[in-house]
Amino acid sequence: MYGHMSMAARSGRLICGSRGALLLLLLILVGTLVVLHRVAQSPLLNQYEILQDHLERQQIQSTRSTRVVLLWNDFFGDPRWKLSWDTLGPQEMRDELRCPVYQCEISNQHEFLPAVELYDAIVFHAAEMYPILRPVPLQRSPHQAYVFALMEPPGETKHRLDDERGFYNLTMTYRLDSDVVWPYGQLLDIETGAVVAPSERPHWRKPPASFNDSVVWDLWSGKTKTAAWFVSHCETLSKREILANRLQEFLNVDIYGKCGTHRCARGDPHCDEMLDTDYLFYLAFENSLCDDYVTEKLFDALHRNIIPVVFGGADYSRILPPHSYIDANRFETVAGLAQYLNFVGGDPAEYVSYFWWRRHYRLASSSPFCDLCARLHAPGFGYKTQSYGDIQSWWFNSCRLESQIRL
Ligand SMILES: *[C@@H]1O[C@H](CO)[C@@H](O)[C@H](O)[C@H]1NC(C)=O
Ligand SMILES: *[C@@H]1O[C@H](CO)[C@@H](O)[C@H](O)[C@H]1NC(C)=O
Repeated sequence: MYGHMSMAARSGRLICGSRGALLLLLLILVGTLVVLHRVAQSPLLNQYEILQDHLERQQIQSTRSTRVVLLWNDFFGDPRWKLSWDTLGPQEMRDELRCPVYQCEISNQHEFLPAVELYDAIVFHAAEMYPILRPVPLQRSPHQAYVFALMEPPGETKHRLDDERGFYNLTMTYRLDSDVVWPYGQLLDIETGAVVAPSERPHWRKPPASFNDSVVWDLWSGKTKTAAWFVSHCETLSKREILANRLQEFLNVDIYGKCGTHRCARGDPHCDEMLDTDYLFYLAFENSLCDDYVTEKLFDALHRNIIPVVFGGADYSRILPPHSYIDANRFETVAGLAQYLNFVGGDPAEYVSYFWWRRHYRLASSSPFCDLCARLHAPGFGYKTQSYGDIQSWWFNSCRLESQIRL
């Protein structure tokens, strides 16, 4: 009895044991297979194939991709943002705007793509309020970039930026540390064709020891008036009106527009011509003292035969060639500035020397949409995300209330 039982128990244990061993073997086998598979797939053995696969996929993607940009609101009432069409395709980007990277579509038509989260970038003009009927987009994809776009200084911002923390991914402003720089004008080297400025560290040629230009020399003798100032905002954060008033204690400043007594109809060609023929200096005084901020007017003046006297928050050496302008903030006092203006204005050789740069540089304009398009095609875009946590500080901190020259 005992022996029988023990036989059965033993054979039972044997069966149990062999089943267990089988299971264990199976487990080891599966485990080994998994490990072998992982090893086979790991970069340890086939890093080149992994890279190759990736690049092949990438190639398909980058040949396909046209980036699509939506202009969300108007640019000072202009839904086209001064572009020629409601929608620009790669062809217009290449032929009209002359963009080096032109595989983009830019549209102000909100139905251009079927859903708002499909745009690669959405541009918001922050010097204008959101339309009441069209506040911010309702859907947002983590892959798209919201662009903070502004040509005006911070004082003209019409968005409540403390409500827009973490909202924007890219900045597109005149500031040189913007993701996309939107300058009022550019200077190109005539010889090389390269854009020299505005830039954070431009490489300017040195002004020559002596320079003459018969056109400017001849104009100089006809210039009987000292300084012209065209202005429509009479009270400003920069207090430029005080500078102009104090300057008038020392020399004549003719103030055109509603802040002064002189009138010249907008668009009348005589207004521009008299800068060549009558005036020695053109006052390009900015309404706020902000990093890199200069107005279009300064670039307009550079087209004329007149020396600009600049006052603003910019480091002008980032924008204009040396010895092509007179910066009020380089003087401690208004008297010192006036004295220098009288010296330059009274000496034709000195006056003419301020025009040396024209032999080497020319003015040009560029579209920020070219740079935006290039940015959306940059290798990092889509892998690297960025956003501005505190856009208000980024934007507002670039301005000051105090000027260098004592007013
Ligand atoms: C500059 O050029 C003008 C006109 O050609 C000439 O009359 C003048 O003497 C020149 N000035 C100097 C300093 O050479
Ligand atoms: C843009 O910012 C948002 C919000 O911070 C973020 O979720 C998104 O991934 C960012 N996109 C890009 C392309 O940087």
